[in-house]
Amino acid sequence: MSINVLGGSTTEEKNNKTHLVKTLRSSAIPDSELLDNLGLFLTRQSLSRINFMQELYSKIIQTHGSIMEFGVRWGQNLALFSALRGIHEPFNYNRQIIGFDTFSGFTSVDEKDGESVKAGDYGVSDNWKQTLESILTFHENNSPIAHKKKVHLVEGDATQTLPDYLNCHPETIVALAYFDFDIYQPTKVCLEALLPHLTKGSVVAFDELNCAEFPGETLAVKEVLGLSRYAIKRSQHSPLTSYIIID
Ligand SMILES: C[S@@+](CC[C@H](N)C(=O)[O-])C[C@H]1O[C@@H](n2cnc3c(N)ncnc32)[C@H](O)[C@@H]1O
Repeated sequence: MSINVLGGSTTEEKNNKTHLVKTLRSSAIPDSELLDNLGLFLTRQSLSRINFMQELYSKIIQTHGSIMEFGVRWGQNLALFSALRGIHEPFNYNRQIIGFDTFSGFTSVDEKDGESVKAGDYGVSDNWKQTLESILTFHENNSPIAHKKKVHLVEGDATQTLPDYLNCHPETIVALAYFDFDIYQPTKVCLEALLPHLTKGSVVAFDELNCAEFPGETLAVKEVLGLSRYAIKRSQHSPLTSYIIID
């Protein structure tokens, strides 16, 4: 299986991480204790991202509506949002969490995306969607009101599946949208489709604004929202991620 992603780490950093991964995979920690000790293996960078998701979640607790992620990949953010709901608002079964992805990487890239990426990049392993469904079911079962399914995966090209979803669910209000397609065309199409479903206080977050490796995401935002209409905020702990709050 060949999966292509961009990486910014030095060789030394990669080797150190590989060593930690080997330690995790070969660890003598019993299964019954492994999940409770994952902090051993969290890097500073991973912890920063988790903290950022916590920061975003805390901003929408008073805002009605669903959470959507555009570009799910292995699905960590959906699992985090599900766990964060269990922590912050365990009885808010109205808060749907919906993830959009092809689960086979970029469908195509635009010339506005530059030279760094190509169609098929950022794929996942075969049948990952099924594995992710089972992980997300664990998280739903680990919080109250588990019998109501609140996390949904929508597979396919989101330029088609998001409009289809919104047609089927015209009642949708989106409190938090996390854009992580990395590339121009789906970011632009989905941002446009989403706008009528946002409310005052909705948070729209982006993974790659002002990022030279992925210029397309910023260009899409510039064309749909402009760069000066909303303050583009950042977290002090995370260099790439940013967000706006609809006012
Ligand atoms: C950088 S990854 C997402 C990473 C994930 N959010 C995370 O934090 O681990 C980008 C994802 O966008 C998805 N993607 C790109 N274009 C898409 C499209 N047109 N429709 C659906 N998914 C798409 C890719 O399949 C890939 O999984």
